[in-house]
Amino acid sequence: MAPHLNIVPSMFVLLLLFISASKVQSDVFDVVAKFGAKADGKTDLSKPFLDAWKEACASVTPSTVVIPKGTYLLSKVNLEGPCKAPIEINVQGTIQAPADPSAFKDPNWVRFYSVENFKMFGGGIFDGQGSIAYEKNTYENREFRSKLPVNIRFDFVTNALIQDITSKDSKLFHINVFAYKNITLERLKIEAPDESPNTDGIHMGKSEGVNIIASDIKTGDDCISIGDGTKNMVIKEITCGPGHGISIGSLGKFQNEEPVEGIKISNCTITNTSNGARIKTWPGEHGGAVSEIHFEDITMNNVSSPILIDQQYCPWNKCKKNEESKVKLSNISFKNIRGTSALPEAIKFICSSSSPCQNVELADIDIKHNGAEPATSQCLNVKPITSGKLNPIPCSGPVPKTPSATA
Ligand SMILES: *[C@@H]1O[C@H](CO)[C@@H](O)[C@H](O)[C@H]1NC(C)=O
Ligand SMILES: *[C@@H]1O[C@H](CO)[C@@H](O)[C@H](O)[C@H]1NC(C)=O
Ligand SMILES: *[C@@H]1O[C@H](CO)[C@@H](O)[C@H](O)[C@H]1NC(C)=O
Ligand SMILES: *[C@@H]1O[C@H](CO)[C@@H](O)[C@H](O)[C@H]1NC(C)=O
Ligand SMILES: *[C@@H]1O[C@H](CO)[C@@H](O)[C@H](O)[C@H]1NC(C)=O
Repeated sequence: MAPHLNIVPSMFVLLLLFISASKVQSDVFDVVAKFGAKADGKTDLSKPFLDAWKEACASVTPSTVVIPKGTYLLSKVNLEGPCKAPIEINVQGTIQAPADPSAFKDPNWVRFYSVENFKMFGGGIFDGQGSIAYEKNTYENREFRSKLPVNIRFDFVTNALIQDITSKDSKLFHINVFAYKNITLERLKIEAPDESPNTDGIHMGKSEGVNIIASDIKTGDDCISIGDGTKNMVIKEITCGPGHGISIGSLGKFQNEEPVEGIKISNCTITNTSNGARIKTWPGEHGGAVSEIHFEDITMNNVSSPILIDQQYCPWNKCKKNEESKVKLSNISFKNIRGTSALPEAIKFICSSSSPCQNVELADIDIKHNGAEPATSQCLNVKPITSGKLNPIPCSGPVPKTPSATA
């Protein structure tokens, strides 16, 4: 019996060695060396990139698509899986989108679809060249906006690591994550002017197990926005600003939205933004649920509304203002939040009278107003549970009346 038993483990060891060796040697698919790409800033990278991806994706051993240093023009690309083995993209170059928004017929520029065991890294830059789009993107110009591309989309991606990538001047959202499972976005840089409309840094929806770590986001809209169906998410070590802060929502605008639950946001620094830690839902309209949202260890520098629950979210005044929000908020905490606010209303909880916020906790808050008046805290339809040092004193200010109209 004994010899047989020995063979099995040693074969197992050999198999493990074989697997780890094949992980190390991944086949390289260099878009310039093998697929005719030119780093001249004007030859379209689209076909070489897609050809390299298709070959890499068909490979039965792990593969790496390489985009070497240099500047490339990319009209658009749709990179689809499933692939036969793990696949990586090493982006070292700067990839530029056409600046003219009319070059886009649908809202995609770089899109990953149905990929598993994926990694992207390399220090490269995705430059959306958005300045012309920003000028034309007004509320009235909806038709125009609906065709603006997101810089990078990850749709139906599983087990992925995105590291050391820059997204710059996207025409719309920078990074959009949809129907994801287990993905880490780490050491990203996102930069767009503070006046650029709808340029959210990272937006996600219907995703589970997303981590956003150690990233720097400067933009014209939410640094991170979390849409319906997002679960078990960790956001930490983010610097945000300028921009609109880190937001859950908006929710309640559309029918059949799935709950948002289990989001931990910690160790972040938010500077010069219109909002800091925010949850926003539309009045009237549709139901939904938000629970287990925990903001902890956050520094606010000159943030207009550092702590905000807004269940009367109504940008451009386009909503049923006289109705109450049907989205239920529960088990929400704000702990160890310190710094300064640009407006006196440092803590503002506007909850719905038809479903008041349940179990909202405030602990160790110290926010000073950058101005002559002291900071205040306003509450509507909520009784926060409090502990530790609290400045301003929770719910000591006047009851908020007017719905806020900030985006
Ligand atoms: C999550 O994805 C990472 C990166 O691809 C992978 O190493 C890890 O094993 C995955 N975790 C699970 C639970 O699948
Ligand atoms: C907080 O974030 C900073 C960088 O932003 C990092 O150096 C530090 O280790 C983090 N602390 C914790 C407790 O995670
Ligand atoms: C905040 O914005 C103001 C005005 O735009 C600017 O002067 C200031 O340097 C910014 N503060 C920080 C800390 O970035
Ligand atoms: C604070 O923010 C306000 C409004 O965004 C801005 O006007 C002001 O310059 C900022 N102050 C500092 C000290 O950064
Ligand atoms: C809120 O927390 C309480 C106590 O921890 C728990 O019983 C309840 O199920 C939670 N509610 C939601 C909606 O997660």
